[in-house]
Amino acid sequence: MIRILANDGIHEDGKLLLEEAGYEVDVMKVAQEDLPNVLPDYDVIIVRSATKIDKALIDRCPNLKVIIRGGVGYGNIEVEYAKGKGVEVMTTPEASSISVAELVFGHLFSVARNLHQSNREMPTKGNTEFKALKRKYSEGFELEGRKLGIIGFGRVGQEVAKKAIGLGMEIMPVDYAFETVKLELDIYNQKNMSLTIEVPTYTLDEVLGVADIITLHVPYGGKAMITEQEIQQMKDGVVIVNAARGGIVDEAALLAALNSGKVRAAGIDVYENEPTPNLDLLNHENVSVSPHIGASTLEAQGRVGLAVADKVIAFFGH
Ligand code: 3PG
Repeated sequence: MIRILANDGIHEDGKLLLEEAGYEVDVMKVAQEDLPNVLPDYDVIIVRSATKIDKALIDRCPNLKVIIRGGVGYGNIEVEYAKGKGVEVMTTPEASSISVAELVFGHLFSVARNLHQSNREMPTKGNTEFKALKRKYSEGFELEGRKLGIIGFGRVGQEVAKKAIGLGMEIMPVDYAFETVKLELDIYNQKNMSLTIEVPTYTLDEVLGVADIITLHVPYGGKAMITEQEIQQMKDGVVIVNAARGGIVDEAALLAALNSGKVRAAGIDVYENEPTPNLDLLNHENVSVSPHIGASTLEAQGRVGLAVADKVIAFFGH
């Protein structure tokens, strides 16, 4: 029997599908240091971003056939090394785009109206200093009409664009592979109604100087893509959202720009140092923060679980 270890969890639906197909699925959290002793008994390991699959661990597991990352980024896996040892590495990139895109707007609405701050202050002062808080939080801004630079126009970037169009924002996608991209806009809850539009793409330089808001949807390429230099190219009072990968935005440069007011606000879901992010960033009054939860909705994890199961079953052919 094929044995599967789901070390960072798996949605019940995906587990059931695998079990119905005859696989043995152990959902448990084996500590990183114990994995070299436990994983050799398994054929497949399912992970999210928490479990690290390094070369030494791969070497300890000659029976391992598949590493499957329920999600998008596989910075926690030595992919090429695993493949070189004949271990298949798979991901489920299609499953979480909607959830990540919705979180981007969660942060945007939050910083636009200072919800992250008023949520902190209302419980203690809302009853005694209501009018003062109303004055303090009365200088928000609308998203409609704003130029949204979308850096990276793959699955998540396109999902962000669809939602932005619905909000009346002007989208400026950055993508070097295509000059235009076709976007299919579903008219939600209207059966069989959709509208296909063709949107032009831009270069990073074209977008940096004019976008009111910049959101990132690219993988981490080993160094920051948004450094002090790129921030200086941006409009004064720009808003930056990073729900892609820690390290894409240089955090020290971002903090300095938040302190100077160059960057008005930021929405941050991912950090250079996870799971111990920079406290100055977490505590900054103009930053809306979340603990890397872009893909962590019930719907996305349901889809991830089913996609994981489908891919494992397809790999083994039964
Ligand atoms: C991903 O790469 O899929 C996202 O960053 C989510 O990571 P997580 O599954 O560890 O939450």
